[in-house]
Amino acid sequence: MGFIRSTAALAALPLVFGQNGSSPFNNPGAVSFQTSPPKYPSPWGEGLGDWADAYSQAEAFVSKLTLLEKVNLTTGVGWEGEKCVGNNGAIPRLGFKALCMQDSPLGVRFADFVSAFPAQLSVASTWSRDLFYQRGNAMGSEHRDKGVDVQLGPVVGPIGRAPEGGRNWEGFSPDPVLSGVAVYETVKGIQDAGVVACTKHYVGNEQEHFRQAGANNSEAISSNIDDVTLHELYVWPFADAIRAGTGSIMCSYNQINNSYACQNSYLQNYIMKNELGFQGFIMSDWSAQHSGVASALAGLDMTMPGDVGFDSGTSFWGPNLTIAVLNGTVPQWRLDDMAVRIVAAWYYVDRENNQVENSPTFSSWTQDTYGYSHYYASEGYTLINEHLDVQDDHAELIRKIDADGTVLLKNNGALPLTGKEKLTTVFGSDSGEAMYGPNGCGDRGCDNGTLAMGWGSGTANFPYLITPLEAIKSVVRDNRGSIESVTDDFAYAQQAALAHRVSQTGGACIVFANSDAGEGYITVDGNEGDRNNLTLWHEGDALINNVASQCPNTIVVMHTVGPVLVGNWSDNVNVTAIIWAGIPGQESGNAIADILYGAVNPGGKTPFTWGKTRESYGTDVMYTNNNGQGAPQDNFVEGVFIDYRYFDRFNETPQYEFGYGLSYTNFSYANIKINARSAPAYVPTTGNTPAAPTYGSVSNRTADYLCPPGFHFISAYIYPCLNSTDLATASLEPRYGQNVTINPGEYDSSPQPRLPAGSAVGSGGNAHLYDVLYTVTADVTNTGAIAGDEVAQLYVSLGGPNDPVVVLRNFDRKTIAPGATTTYSFDITRRDLSNWDTAAQDWIISSYTKTAYVGSSSRRLPLSGTLSGANTGTSSGYPPGPTGGSSSASAGSTASSYHHGKPTGTKSWAPPAYTPPGYTTKNW
Ligand code: BGC
Repeated sequence: MGFIRSTAALAALPLVFGQNGSSPFNNPGAVSFQTSPPKYPSPWGEGLGDWADAYSQAEAFVSKLTLLEKVNLTTGVGWEGEKCVGNNGAIPRLGFKALCMQDSPLGVRFADFVSAFPAQLSVASTWSRDLFYQRGNAMGSEHRDKGVDVQLGPVVGPIGRAPEGGRNWEGFSPDPVLSGVAVYETVKGIQDAGVVACTKHYVGNEQEHFRQAGANNSEAISSNIDDVTLHELYVWPFADAIRAGTGSIMCSYNQINNSYACQNSYLQNYIMKNELGFQGFIMSDWSAQHSGVASALAGLDMTMPGDVGFDSGTSFWGPNLTIAVLNGTVPQWRLDDMAVRIVAAWYYVDRENNQVENSPTFSSWTQDTYGYSHYYASEGYTLINEHLDVQDDHAELIRKIDADGTVLLKNNGALPLTGKEKLTTVFGSDSGEAMYGPNGCGDRGCDNGTLAMGWGSGTANFPYLITPLEAIKSVVRDNRGSIESVTDDFAYAQQAALAHRVSQTGGACIVFANSDAGEGYITVDGNEGDRNNLTLWHEGDALINNVASQCPNTIVVMHTVGPVLVGNWSDNVNVTAIIWAGIPGQESGNAIADILYGAVNPGGKTPFTWGKTRESYGTDVMYTNNNGQGAPQDNFVEGVFIDYRYFDRFNETPQYEFGYGLSYTNFSYANIKINARSAPAYVPTTGNTPAAPTYGSVSNRTADYLCPPGFHFISAYIYPCLNSTDLATASLEPRYGQNVTINPGEYDSSPQPRLPAGSAVGSGGNAHLYDVLYTVTADVTNTGAIAGDEVAQLYVSLGGPNDPVVVLRNFDRKTIAPGATTTYSFDITRRDLSNWDTAAQDWIISSYTKTAYVGSSSRRLPLSGTLSGANTGTSSGYPPGPTGGSSSASAGSTASSYHHGKPTGTKSWAPPAYTPPGYTTKNW
């Protein structure tokens, strides 16, 4: 019943790391075959904080339910059993409709007449809390108006450990704070629209290769992660999502420390539900459930799409959950907790008052107006697509996000264009129409025409896609100019001829190129979800070099899912400007024209590091199984050192550092001030939860749960009822009754100890983590001639030998008029200054000197000051934090780059092994 794996094979495998197989790290918490400790019982929701009302309503509702009705809430009806990508069972007796779970994180997947929003990666590059929220809210309202109950987004796993990771573009950024702020606002936005957000994929779901068992691996990959890294990096943004009130979290396909995510009691029970106080429900990724009783006891609340395999007609839950409650292997309180969590999320976002008639009003499986509501079974022919147009005026928001998120990487004065260029030329298939139309490839599984979305489940259908070429052409036409294009990436002779004409007449050569990625169930051009390399597709380098060899004013625009290597041409004097235009969605062309012609002054900053080589990242996708046919062992040996933290630590010079982006104006930084705020000492949480509640009673007469005689079964549909009063027979499981190992605590319904980092009053962990210890202000002056937006960034050095050189902790985006000075203000919370202490199982502020830096990127930090004077200690006095004293600050007003003043090591330098005091357990 428990899921404990053998520890016998410890130390059997060499670490597989990066491209060269050598690791500069020795991280004892990230080794092959390490295991995940069992943690039971599964915490019951309490209605903490602002969940109280939703819980009272949910508890009242669940009290009225029968066993079968409760089970029906927890289990999907099977793949393509109803109209959404996931659908649980309804409770018709009480008028409770089945929930419709629908992708995606950027718009309503599979539906027509919806908006195709910019991908999360693109909104992240705006660094705008307001746009994070507005995008979430606009997407949420489209889901609501189509009749969706649960939007399957946002994504903070993958976070982006390896730049090649196929789904990184679905997420925000490899920085946990940028990701955390963005997910917080997105969840608020979606849920304020009356739809449940499902934050996914929890956790360590960092690559597509081996995410599920396959031909070369009998089990899914195991992401082997230590306790510190888990807290300080991978779980961090999930904590923000929980604090924002996310109604649901999706557990991922992969294993973490050799235990599948959806039955990992440590991650679900201990961290998510106990430490972080998650009050909503955990939903499995599609077919990510691998057991019945074990996953229930390990904290899973809903299985999707409900069947063991797509349309197998069998389920780990459904009738088997009914059986498990009847035979006592799943206690009633656990089932009641699942049901309460699901219904509470529904009340929490006010689904009651946000219903649309006949929802869902669309079918995921066909765009025909009439068709089968039970698509797989070909039953229930009816009106299935109402073709409701829910786009509202979201196009304007999308265009703004795109323009505000566009990152200007190089500009020698070529931009903005005036529109009066004698000859404008445009190159590359990435500038134009896809030959099959914008939705011509299922789930966008091709790279054809301009790239405005990656591929996989994280997609939506475009209502239209404005191409860069048509938008640029329209500007040129309005200016009575001339424009020609070559959109064949390989027509080198024609490209050169056209580019040569610009060298004769003057004008601009705008070259478009892209790099695509997606979800692993689709392979595009040999890329099985994850990218095979970091170079531009369709020989983009050759295209750019070919144009630049002729044209003295070559402007490169890239649509990419993450970093690409640009060193091949970025220093070419003929390449006069370089732009990263992200993954923009439907308004792509309009937004790039806004930037190119200066209607919008670029203010986006890159949400990831652009390295000079693939190896410079220090992390990579594991492409070949390192464990025979077993579960690949992906050891996250680099700990928290991904992206800019790795570059900083190993003195790798990036091409463009994290947080970098130019403007058509200039900004200078001055006058940092650090104010220690009066905050109470940290108080580790103590005490116990109440005992597990149950709602209503369950009769143990199996005859009460038989499927009604004469009942019409839809083929392959999952029902909660039994086909026999004999439970063994009803289970369809030959191993029924077999002895299993029971983990201590699995059935314990007595009051449970709260964790020190947890909370008795709200979700997101100990409330003191969010106490503001310092407020840092700094002045930014627009020294140029036009108005512009500047994203000022606050970084902190935590000061310890195992800490990154700096970590992002806050940021703000403001518009500054020419000549004007604006003051930015950044709060620094206790969490921002803390490290995870494995021995204490709590956050602590170390006694190392803490320094705040403010500037325009992770490496352009002209202002700095020491953080001192706030109360950084705990009520217990452990560890003794510095108190008293006064803050000091130093400022160099316009320095263009900075040195951290700490040894940063070289590539060959190995940091000391991370062995925190009191480190006792092998895995955590
Ligand atoms: C993906 C999820 C998605 C689900 C339903 C899975 O393959 O990993 O992100 O929500 O499918 O489409």
